[in-house]
Amino acid sequence: MCGIVGYIGDGQAVPILLESLKMLEYRGYDSAGISVFNGSLETYKIAGRIKNLEAIIPENMQGNIGIGHTRWATHGKPETRNSHPHLSSNISVVHNGIIENYMELKERLIDLGYEFKSETDTEVIAHLLHFNMNCSGKKCLLDSLAETIKELDGSYAIAALCADEPDIIAFARKNSPLVIGIGNGSNYAASDVTAFLKHTKEVIYINNNEIGFLKPDSIEIFDLDGNSVSRDTETIEWDLEAAEKAGYEHFMLKEIHEQPTSIQNTFAGKLSELEGTVTLDELYLTPEQIKHLRRATIIACGTSWNAGILGKYLFEKLTGIHTDIETASEFRYGNPVLCGEELTIAITQSGETADTLAAVRSSKSYGCRNIAITNVVGSTITRESDSVVYTRAGPEIGVAATKTFTAQLITLYMLAIHLGRARGVISAEEAKNLIVNIKRLPGQIQKILNRKEEIRECAEQFADMKDYFFIGRYLNFPIALEGALKLKEISYIHAEGYAAGELKHGPLALLTEETPVVAIATMGHTYDKILSNIKEVKARNSTVIAVANEDDTEIEKYVDVVLRIPPSHEMTSPVLSSVVLQLLAYYTALAKDCSIDKPRNLAKSVTVE
Ligand code: M6R
Repeated sequence: MCGIVGYIGDGQAVPILLESLKMLEYRGYDSAGISVFNGSLETYKIAGRIKNLEAIIPENMQGNIGIGHTRWATHGKPETRNSHPHLSSNISVVHNGIIENYMELKERLIDLGYEFKSETDTEVIAHLLHFNMNCSGKKCLLDSLAETIKELDGSYAIAALCADEPDIIAFARKNSPLVIGIGNGSNYAASDVTAFLKHTKEVIYINNNEIGFLKPDSIEIFDLDGNSVSRDTETIEWDLEAAEKAGYEHFMLKEIHEQPTSIQNTFAGKLSELEGTVTLDELYLTPEQIKHLRRATIIACGTSWNAGILGKYLFEKLTGIHTDIETASEFRYGNPVLCGEELTIAITQSGETADTLAAVRSSKSYGCRNIAITNVVGSTITRESDSVVYTRAGPEIGVAATKTFTAQLITLYMLAIHLGRARGVISAEEAKNLIVNIKRLPGQIQKILNRKEEIRECAEQFADMKDYFFIGRYLNFPIALEGALKLKEISYIHAEGYAAGELKHGPLALLTEETPVVAIATMGHTYDKILSNIKEVKARNSTVIAVANEDDTEIEKYVDVVLRIPPSHEMTSPVLSSVVLQLLAYYTALAKDCSIDKPRNLAKSVTVE
């Protein structure tokens, strides 16, 4: 996945494009480039981060129209020649997505005499656009783009400039995000609103299979049949400050600290502890449909998948609905047995994860109703699902998901309580008790944050270890998986998460004095079982770091370090344990001087399969 931007207006394009690209660097950061029109097209691109690009652009480069790109390599190495924009004579193109039939198109274009300078799929778009503009008389940029996209298989958000029509930026979208920002005498196009939020909060989300163009004071959108499409503008409600670091050393630390507020936002206006009810108006399921639900399938990737495992446990306990959890990237290839009476729940913070979108499309072909749980308003998943429950965690910039994970957990609690009440599986009293405990979480997270130095000391003590294990049982099992994912992702320490009972079936062979084991040993009906697992680990001389309740005086007899959480309900304590493990990962990565917000090889939203 990559970030694209376009600017046209009365301002200088270069600083605006560079600023926008910096906001989009989280989408990919292995190379970057811009094209600006100033009498002719001037293009600068280079491998590495935006600062490398800044260094090669002439200081007083002029021009009021331009496009830019920040890349996460898919086709071709992260080298300057593979960086966007890609050029074909007087045309410049930036693209996010994957052109699946690019080899076939490339061969055809080579036969037509086009010379390729990169290994990318994007370069075929530039040449095809040039060919379509010139093959049978002269066509305008927009008509040529319409011709071009008819020949593309795959996904794309495209912005294109042509030196012969220097008063427009043409764009097109299919399965990769594209949003237009409406300024005053200036307009913007980008993969994500953060790119231009400094300049405008008025936006139009471009839908799949739409194309159009920007002029400084107008925007035109068309469907594939050339019909003009009229679209209301939407106003973004959060501001740039929310997308900046606000004094924290890293976005990840800021986002961990935002959790008392972000969780509050997730459940605001939805929970009634007096009635024992959860209001989810956005769920388009009738009481009758809810009663007849027999099975649900949760589909997600990465951290969202870990949240989904907790979702499975919650659903089975609170709603009595048989629930499966599927890795989205495997879902389509495993002959899923689904029927129209079933529910799928897609969890994706970005709403753009290609594997999750593909799995949802596949489940819809069986007639399933899909609920999307996402953080990003207007993202692709929201347009392809029957119901959308927003997690409302605010923008998350750090590649490692933190506040969006806990917001997903809260959303899953709410969904499970809502369905469980509607199906008569849990009583109002049980629901009230859970709701009271959910509402306590923001204050309890704050207490953990206030004691973060203890977690930092622990992280520093073990930062040189090469391997880590995380274990938990039942609701704490997905938290163990997430703890391990967080640590490996940002500190590059090899880490494995296990259901604690599984250790003796193989992984125990790896335990030595050099493998710290983090055991989530919070109060609940599996507490005694995890104590036994901790003893098995100690017998192998490994260090045990326990995450345990503040009032547990027993645990310290068996472990080396205890990281405490406030006493909490067994069902809601996983949220608290996950905050402890986020901080453990963060401080470990900090001690190792890692690139915390932009870990190597990763990107925030994975829009390729
Ligand atoms: O946007 P999504 O929730 O669909 O993303 C899925 C994963 O790529 C994501 O959760 C990834 O595992 C996180 N960056 C991990 O912190």
